[in-house]
Amino acid sequence: MIEPPLIRFVVCVGDVCDREGSGSVLHERLSEALDVDFGKGIAAGEIACVRRSCLRHCSQGVPMLRIEPSGEVYADPDIDLMLDLVEEALAG
Ligand code: FES
Repeated sequence: MIEPPLIRFVVCVGDVCDREGSGSVLHERLSEALDVDFGKGIAAGEIACVRRSCLRHCSQGVPMLRIEPSGEVYADPDIDLMLDLVEEALAG
């Protein structure tokens, strides 16, 4: 049986969040940062970063991100803060 990731970032690339490509840029920047700092965790399936078409928080007008399994939602999140959250999740 495949275990779910300890932490998964769901980046919105829907019409509002990806207006001018900002949602895609967020996904790309976060994926790269995770790969640099936590490549082994990604390879092991402990960490994931995926794209979704809408997280139903469009009114913010900036790229949105949801963290699973916590369900926390961030507007235009800071990459370093997201990396800190990964460390907390791995520390457990
Ligand atoms: S388009 Fe991003 S939350 Fe809806």
